Amino acid sequence: MPNIKLENITKSYKDEVIVHNFNLTIPSGKFFALLGPSGSGKTTLLRLIAGFEKPDKGDIYLGDKRITDEPINERRVNTVFQHYALFPHLNVFDNVAYGLTVKKIPKDAIEKKVMKMLKVVGLEKHRNKSISQLSGGQQQRVALARAIVNEPQVLLLDEPLAALDLKLRERMVIELIDLQDQLGTTFVYVTHDQFEALTVADYMAIMNTDGEIEQVGTPKEIYEFPVSSFVAEFVGTTNIMKGTIEKSGDTYVLKTEKLGSLEIVTPDKKWAVKGAHVLMSLRPEKIEISKKKLDGFSNVLKGTVEAIVYYGRSTQYSVRVKNGSLVHVFEQNDEHFPKETIDYDDTVYLHWQKNNVVLLKK
Ligand SMILES: Nc1ncnc2c1ncn2[C@@H]1O[C@H](COP(=O)(O)OP(=O)(O)O)[C@@H](O)[C@H]1O
Ligand SMILES: [Mg+2]
Repeated sequence: MPNIKLENITKSYKDEVIVHNFNLTIPSGKFFALLGPSGSGKTTLLRLIAGFEKPDKGDIYLGDKRITDEPINERRVNTVFQHYALFPHLNVFDNVAYGLTVKKIPKDAIEKKVMKMLKVVGLEKHRNKSISQLSGGQQQRVALARAIVNEPQVLLLDEPLAALDLKLRERMVIELIDLQDQLGTTFVYVTHDQFEALTVADYMAIMNTDGEIEQVGTPKEIYEFPVSSFVAEFVGTTNIMKGTIEKSGDTYVLKTEKLGSLEIVTPDKKWAVKGAHVLMSLRPEKIEISKKKLDGFSNVLKGTVEAIVYYGRSTQYSVRVKNGSLVHVFEQNDEHFPKETIDYDDTVYLHWQKNNVVLLKK
């Protein structure tokens, strides 16, 4: 399987520049997610890879092969869209068989390939049903089977689960991961849903509203070590604080405008500059909340509980700390430990370790 390379791609619609000098390498045979807010240019990029659009500038490679000017049907790329775009007048089998029929492949070979694909997506018993007799999830499976029956080297998926309800989406996510595993095809999965991206992807790229890549990495790298406040805030929930490095060494001291001096450590020595202005991200689940001051933490802040949101498996506390900042805290509702009850207006202490903080570029 070849990788996909986008090199210095610029694309505009009329006078609106969507992406400018865009570079991205999508690894071969992996499940790659492109995550970004609506309007950031994700669909545009997929359409460029598929060949529905041409870049104004730059090149697209599939492996060593330059495909920038290749017609759609000569690229070994297939697309699954959010709206299934199935043929309503054809049954399940004929929808999946369509591309092969057009290529005039012998009938018995078509039968074999289509049934194999219907089996992969769990629809072999539904081969004769019309599309209108299928649920949304089944229709999306037909769309998947139709895209992969042609044995593309790359499968582009543009928010393919967005029209499905939550439970079905969760199930389909697992099925897609399995499918990619079985096929070894390069999957490029576009979504604005951070949870979906974190779940499906081997690697992911985060795009900002200007159509630029902010960070590429594994879901864990992106979540644990975001490089910018955009990434930290777009993927998950976080507390962003501004400060100045006051003391460096193994442990830095970050002097913040609102929270006083905090201790932090970071493996990245580029921050070891006294006086540097930095942002820091502190994930809500890294904070321990308690009505009593606990020992053994490098940072402790005192505050007042201003809001409590119960999420079932966790509870979010919003705590107003000195000088007015609001800090969010997640606490797991595990029953193994009897918890103290924390109420609105309670005075609480927030504790965290110095290595739970990530420093960000502005
Ligand atoms: N065919 C088109 N003509 C003009 N503008 C377009 C066209 N397609 C997309 N756009 C614009 O390009 C921007 C990026 O769109 P899109 O690639 O669909 O973003 P995303 O998929 O990330 O939501 C949007 O501002 C959108 O309005
Ligand atoms: Mg889109």
